[in-house]
Amino acid sequence: EKGGYDYFMLKEIAEQPKAVADTLLGRIDRAGSLSLDEVRIPASVLREVDKVVIVACGTAFHAGLIAKYAIEHWTRMPCEVELASEFRYRDPILDPRTLVVAISQSGETMDTLMALRHAREQGAKVLAICNTNGSTIPRESDAVLYTHAGPEVAVASTKAFLTQLVACYLVALYLGQVRGTKWGDEISAVIHELSDIAQEVERVLATMEPVRELARTLADKNTVLFLGRHVGYPVALEGALKLKELAYMHAEGFAAGELKHGPIALIEEDLPVVVVVPSPRGRSVLHDKIVSNIQEIRARGARTIVIAEEGDEAVLPYADHLIRIPATPTLLQPLVSTVPLQVFACELATARGNEVDQPRNLAKSVTVE
Ligand code: M6R
Repeated sequence: EKGGYDYFMLKEIAEQPKAVADTLLGRIDRAGSLSLDEVRIPASVLREVDKVVIVACGTAFHAGLIAKYAIEHWTRMPCEVELASEFRYRDPILDPRTLVVAISQSGETMDTLMALRHAREQGAKVLAICNTNGSTIPRESDAVLYTHAGPEVAVASTKAFLTQLVACYLVALYLGQVRGTKWGDEISAVIHELSDIAQEVERVLATMEPVRELARTLADKNTVLFLGRHVGYPVALEGALKLKELAYMHAEGFAAGELKHGPIALIEEDLPVVVVVPSPRGRSVLHDKIVSNIQEIRARGARTIVIAEEGDEAVLPYADHLIRIPATPTLLQPLVSTVPLQVFACELATARGNEVDQPRNLAKSVTVE
């Protein structure tokens, strides 16, 4: 049942192009617009929404953090993202014009369920993004957009995460479409790019051998840091979470712009630091700033592991290890930049002799608060 792979996690990483394609299937019509009829919240209600609040845990929370960039950019509506376990304890401001999006692979996470119950009690509409048909979270929501990742067995979430991102982009674009924003042209261009993205994920998977080799050389390290900016920041958090879960190593993700506000003090000789570099096209200011971050940490002895777009030459002088990813629109980059981080964590776990599919102390679905 592992389909020839040693671990479910490896199988699930490999299934990502299909999972992404399946999640898009039937949701983009021939004219290139979104047809999300399954979202039973009427367009008239969605036009009245004035705020989006995303609640989720763990990896699903990281998908929510990325969704915020997309939702705010494409809909010009404020979007908050909150750990489900914190949400209801701080008396959040919700009303019938709030759209709450609950993201969960299993659909059974108690923290997320309690957050959505609280939201509905305040009159907010809840849309679930979920991978498990008929589970509790979609049953208790006003609407559901299913991710079609197929069953995810490994405790560490991989293909569910990529499909959560796709679903989040669809929700963001759909809200943009029904509400009509000034980004109309960009929205159709992105829908187009999104429909080709599975091939790009496939291309990344085909180039992962050097990442595995690199991971094996780091098996005796104690700490790995991850830096990113913009949507690369949640990707850095996700890379660090994967490494904690699987390799039991100390790993932390930082927003690269925060380096000087503290984390740079951690940099020492030979410390591995993974940097997710934004596209040099698009938001080029951010790209240039992160290149100087790489330069700064390398000057302090860090071993830099740089994930950068094909054709990005500016990173070459400062990358001890370079991992190439295909060029994508800025907001979609997490779909390709997360993949090497999954492979990296999985290989490090194996090199350290850890149980990849069943990491210690963890359960696939956390059904207690
Ligand atoms: O089933 P859910 O998506 O609600 O689960 C949320 C988290 O427990 C989950 O993502 C967890 O962080 C994973 N083990 C991450 O790999």
